[in-house]
Amino acid sequence: MSARRKKGGTKPRANALWGGRFAAGPSAIMEKINASIGFDKRLYAQDIAGSRAHAAMLARKGIISKTDALAIDRGLQKILAEIESGKFRFKTALEDIHMNVEARLADLIGPAAGRLHTARSRNDQVATDFKLWVRDSIDALDTALQDLQAKLIAQAERHADAIMPGFTHLQAAQPVTFGHHMLAYVEMFGRDRGRLADCRARLNESPLGSAALAGTPFPIDRNMTAKALGFARPAANSLDAVSDRDFALEYLSTAAIAAVHLSRLAEEMVIWTSGPFRFVRLSDAFTTGSSIMPQKRNPDAAELVRAKCGRIVGSLNALLMVMKGLPLAYGKDMQEDKEPVFEATDALALAVAATSGMIADMKPDRKRMRQAAEDGFLTATDLADWLVRELGLPFRQAHHVCGRVVKRAEESGKSLQALTLAELRAIEPRIHKGVYKALSIENSVAARRSFGGTAPAQVRRAAATARRRYL
Ligand code: ARG
Repeated sequence: MSARRKKGGTKPRANALWGGRFAAGPSAIMEKINASIGFDKRLYAQDIAGSRAHAAMLARKGIISKTDALAIDRGLQKILAEIESGKFRFKTALEDIHMNVEARLADLIGPAAGRLHTARSRNDQVATDFKLWVRDSIDALDTALQDLQAKLIAQAERHADAIMPGFTHLQAAQPVTFGHHMLAYVEMFGRDRGRLADCRARLNESPLGSAALAGTPFPIDRNMTAKALGFARPAANSLDAVSDRDFALEYLSTAAIAAVHLSRLAEEMVIWTSGPFRFVRLSDAFTTGSSIMPQKRNPDAAELVRAKCGRIVGSLNALLMVMKGLPLAYGKDMQEDKEPVFEATDALALAVAATSGMIADMKPDRKRMRQAAEDGFLTATDLADWLVRELGLPFRQAHHVCGRVVKRAEESGKSLQALTLAELRAIEPRIHKGVYKALSIENSVAARRSFGGTAPAQVRRAAATARRRYL
């Protein structure tokens, strides 16, 4: 059987929408590789909105009659209702969402449907639809990230003074507050939202009216359609407008960075809920038990959030590779732009929602964290600072003295605070009992009142600022 024949042997018919020059239809394999309807049906609402704006403009400019425009508009609204109620039959033979909608419009209103595609091409149509879709996704993601920030800020306020070890290299470094740690993520997600806003502003130019690549001889009004679709202006260059996908790349880059932030937070949840740490307890709603080990409570949601990051970063890479080396203007390669964006969007929406749920429910174990702050000589830096302030030692020398103190504590199995004055004086005779203030963990934390620092008072102020700024 010839590869041009479909299964069943009958000669496939040429495509009704562009088959003028084609005697026969595509092979089954061609149809399969060519069709995007399986995924681009998600653009239906944007496609219909774009077509309605285009038809209204064509009528206003006298390019089509008002009667035809009205019929087109009614037909499109009917199609929207059909799709939303699940009654619409998508056909693979019609390739994509644009041709599915247009073919259905012809069923509904007859030949007037054929006038909708005047002064337009699927190239500017798909770019427009996709931009509108990405713009909606940006708005939804922004709201979801804001909600996550609200959950983090609430935890920060609740636990502004809960002391825990702060880490560098995952080695206990200095005591910090749990609230301070939560607010660190608020900043990250705040920058993600800033990147989304930048991306949205750059994206917001309308490709519609660029036609296939070169513009159109019809007296269209691109400002009118741009305005109707909420774009700030028409895109300036038709070649660029039909072949630009950097709005999608920028969105995916932003999504990838946000996913990395989520993954870091998820990783901390995994560590903090693990046996040796037990800094926080996640709720039943976001953990699972083990089918064999009854004592277990696994942080599955956190682990899956961590894993979703791979998919999202993968989507960015996929689209970068699709776009690299494409000559202007449109190339069918660009049909492969949608799945990575859809996949990343779905994965990220789920990851943000799961993280919000987890953060809202989690209960930090304040006692346990405070206890952990006792180990690891966390106030060693405070001791060094004290030697500088109180005894006038140069910091380097203070650091050296402090190192010997830590060594002494280590050898005698004591915390810094538990060393006697005599023990301390054996190392530096000028040390007096005022030093114990510096060695107190509470004082160490409370002293870090510098802007952006970890002191409870500072964290409370920062949480209030974050509330005003982000929520
Ligand atoms: N389904 C196509 C896409 O997603 C629509 C544009 C087709 N344009 C064309 N010249 N074949 O990119």
